[in-house]
Amino acid sequence: MGRPADVWYTPVAIANDDFSLQDIEFHRETASYYDAEVTAKYGVYHRLLLEPYLDWLAEQLGPARALDMGCGTGVVSLALAQRGFDVLGVDHSQDMLAIAEHKLTNANSRGTCRFVVGDVRNLPVANGHFACVTCQGLLHHLGQLQPCLQELVRVLRPGGFFYISEPCCEATPLGRALRKLWRLRLVRHQTTEAEKPQSVEAPISAQDLRAMLEGLGLEFDMRFVTQLSPVRAALSERLYVLAVTLVSWPWRNRRGDLVFVFGRKPETGELGVDPLPHDYRSPLYRRGRLSRPGFRGD
Ligand SMILES: C[S@@+](CC[C@H](N)C(=O)[O-])C[C@H]1O[C@@H](n2cnc3c(N)ncnc32)[C@H](O)[C@@H]1O
Repeated sequence: MGRPADVWYTPVAIANDDFSLQDIEFHRETASYYDAEVTAKYGVYHRLLLEPYLDWLAEQLGPARALDMGCGTGVVSLALAQRGFDVLGVDHSQDMLAIAEHKLTNANSRGTCRFVVGDVRNLPVANGHFACVTCQGLLHHLGQLQPCLQELVRVLRPGGFFYISEPCCEATPLGRALRKLWRLRLVRHQTTEAEKPQSVEAPISAQDLRAMLEGLGLEFDMRFVTQLSPVRAALSERLYVLAVTLVSWPWRNRRGDLVFVFGRKPETGELGVDPLPHDYRSPLYRRGRLSRPGFRGD
């Protein structure tokens, strides 16, 4: 895969506060099995929500500059590059980036991709540089969301699009019950959860996120998904998606285990395209009886 010309990004030192150092240490210890554990676990949501959205985005924007904040092992960066974007992936973990770099050398994409060490709260990038910014699984590794969101808005060009997905703490009653069940199962099977290195991560408050995005003047749609982890291994991906769609449906606007944000920074003046226009249909709401006219405006 090609790499973009080195003319628009100057690397900077990463933060050295205790919180960041603990996160870097956590990823140093876990990077080698991140894709096997985390990427594999969330792959179903990548296929269900992320990838169709990136397809749609590529159609809207054509080849354009994209930033992947907290890119880790490059899951989203590489998916963007495959769709023709020129991507900058920023992460403060050299260990996660080493894996992303390795995957990059074996990738065959239309766009370009470059991974750099940096702090997502302080990016040495010009205002409005990117047409699109993605932020998957990053915010729940930060002590405060606001500085990162402010950077997201600053580097996004007016009219540019953004995507956020995170675990959140507004679980549905069903989600809470399933989580208890899942913990019991982990205890019974004596997994190594307790032996894992200490992480700073904690599900975010989607309510707070909503308030911050509104405060920053962004336009967005927020969707929630209830996970069914205890039955994941027992079901095919198709059945799992159907089950998740059904159980998520009643709470899709307010509660769930995961929150997905599809957004846009307003242009000054007339808006050309909505964050998700009425003809965009997430596969989550596309099937059979659950079909609906669009992803927004319920
Ligand atoms: C759960 S991983 C998500 C990685 C990737 N986005 C994905 O979807 O697989 C969170 C990533 O955020 C990075 N991160 C956390 N705080 C950061 C910061 N302040 N600046 C840059 N990266 C950070 C971590 O190093 C880690 O790679």
